[in-house]
Amino acid sequence: MKVPAGLTALSILAGADAADTVLGTFMFHRHGDRTPKALAPTNLTALGYEQVYTSGQYYRSRYLSGASKIRGINEDTVKLSQLAVTAPVDNVLQNSAMGFLQGLYPPVQTLQTLANGESVSAPMDGYQLIPVNTIETGAGSEDAGWLQDASSCANAKTSSNSFFESNEYKDLQSGTKELYESVVPAVNGVIGADQVSFKNGYIVYDILNVASIHNASTPSSPSNTTLTTLRTLADAHEWGLAYNASDPIRAVSGMQLAGEILSSLRSTISSKGSKPALSIQFGAYATFMSFFGLADLPAVNKDFTGVVGYASSMVFELFTSADPSSGFPATEDLKVRFLFHNGTASNSSEPTSYPLFGGQSTELSWTDFETGLNKFAITSTQQWCEKCGNATGSCAAYAQKTGSTQSMAGKGGISPAIGGVIGAFVTLAVVLGTAAGVMLVGGFTLVSKKKMAAKGAIGENVEAKA
Ligand SMILES: *[C@@H]1O[C@H](CO)[C@@H](O)[C@H](O)[C@H]1NC(C)=O
Ligand SMILES: *[C@@H]1O[C@H](CO)[C@@H](O)[C@H](O)[C@H]1NC(C)=O
Ligand SMILES: *[C@@H]1O[C@H](CO)[C@@H](O)[C@H](O)[C@H]1NC(C)=O
Ligand SMILES: *[C@@H]1O[C@H](CO)[C@@H](O)[C@H](O)[C@H]1NC(C)=O
Ligand SMILES: *[C@@H]1O[C@H](CO)[C@@H](O)[C@H](O)[C@H]1NC(C)=O
Ligand SMILES: *[C@@H]1O[C@H](CO)[C@@H](O)[C@H](O)[C@H]1NC(C)=O
Ligand SMILES: *[C@@H]1O[C@H](CO)[C@@H](O)[C@H](O)[C@H]1NC(C)=O
Repeated sequence: MKVPAGLTALSILAGADAADTVLGTFMFHRHGDRTPKALAPTNLTALGYEQVYTSGQYYRSRYLSGASKIRGINEDTVKLSQLAVTAPVDNVLQNSAMGFLQGLYPPVQTLQTLANGESVSAPMDGYQLIPVNTIETGAGSEDAGWLQDASSCANAKTSSNSFFESNEYKDLQSGTKELYESVVPAVNGVIGADQVSFKNGYIVYDILNVASIHNASTPSSPSNTTLTTLRTLADAHEWGLAYNASDPIRAVSGMQLAGEILSSLRSTISSKGSKPALSIQFGAYATFMSFFGLADLPAVNKDFTGVVGYASSMVFELFTSADPSSGFPATEDLKVRFLFHNGTASNSSEPTSYPLFGGQSTELSWTDFETGLNKFAITSTQQWCEKCGNATGSCAAYAQKTGSTQSMAGKGGISPAIGGVIGAFVTLAVVLGTAAGVMLVGGFTLVSKKKMAAKGAIGENVEAKA
């Protein structure tokens, strides 16, 4: 993709600025290399493990021991209260979080002397045990082929479905028939020949991309050029499902993420740095895309409309340029910087900072940042229910309180397009096989409803599973 002129001026390599003190960060991270979604259950591969581990090592050198060390954070032995690590209920994402943490806080061997004088040492050279807590949003996302399957937001599903009715979609679907037909042999029966079309643009690219990394090439393997074309089509497909400027609810996962970023950084500020200073959430590429759209990042670089690479990370760094020795800074001295790295971050390839909200500066005052995110952040269950047009289950309470207008909106959101939603589910079940289909329609929804009722909150981090 082309890099627009001026990008280099807008984005600066985010090296450590010795004058600044980092007070806390919120990080959103993609999983590492995995097996294809079409062959559920999807697993993290050895390569993927290595990628997230490397990223963990990089962020260790940035935020725990380097010049951008987070104020007051433990360098070697983890202090659990300083850290909040979350992932949806999903094997690939949870395992990625654990692999990352092994790089972030490597083993520290400590000998313990017991009352009877015996000395014990911890297993695995003192591997540090760090809980990965679960969040409601995005459950099962890596086994799901259709973007909004990981959301239970009624209006977002309807909105994403309407992508399939758009002219953009129809043009691409009809204009790429021959291309997709030509790669049927390469897909090698992983999905049926009639499923190989732009309609399943991401699934098809995913199968071939995973094969290009893991399988020996065969005479039918697509050329690099073809694979790149398929990737660009997959990008258009996923962007179409993840974001539409005239229909913002499509980006609901980005709105929820914005709410989590705000609540995390606000708690760092209100506790004057004693609440988790390093929040790390693992999640799907779709959430990156929805967030990028909402934060106007494609205005900086068109590349933000593409699917991010494995083990990509974005970070919101809360920092100050004020003298750190005079206590926790006043609100007017707080600033935020947005950083992104496409693929595994490492010492030799560090994240870059970009301006948010269509602005010019890579540093925002906390107040401007908060105002910008608040324009689209979902920060409460009530807000979620209203925007999603959901009126039953954990949303019933709000539907009653807000009266008839609300439930009308709810009904309007659900009924006309429910056929389309069901259509997408059925297609997906065909693509992924019956077992996965049953899980998507039944299992995940049930689990998340039950847990939502228990927790009474959507988009809020839930406590550690016992
Ligand atoms: C993922 O791992 C499970 C075993 O844990 C295995 O049954 C399954 O086939 C693996 N999936 C792929 C696509 O390799
Ligand atoms: C929201 O509504 C959709 C469609 O009716 C439903 O599938 C989903 O479970 C609901 N979510 C919640 C949290 O009630
Ligand atoms: C975006 O939303 C508008 C308004 O709902 C709709 O007309 C248009 O077709 C949508 N575009 C895509 C690509 O989904
Ligand atoms: C790649 O190899 C795996 C494991 O051998 C196989 O299941 C899969 O079908 C192959 N993919 C393609 C596109 O041939
Ligand atoms: C195709 O891509 C692979 C992996 O990126 C590379 O090793 C190979 O040289 C490329 N082939 C051509 C013809 O560019
Ligand atoms: C990340 O890399 C992928 C693959 O090269 C590309 O399609 C995408 O546009 C890139 N995203 C950004 C934000 O650079
Ligand atoms: C990365 O750089 C830091 C500081 O320059 C160094 O301490 C660390 O060992 C390096 N990490 C790796 C994996 O090379």
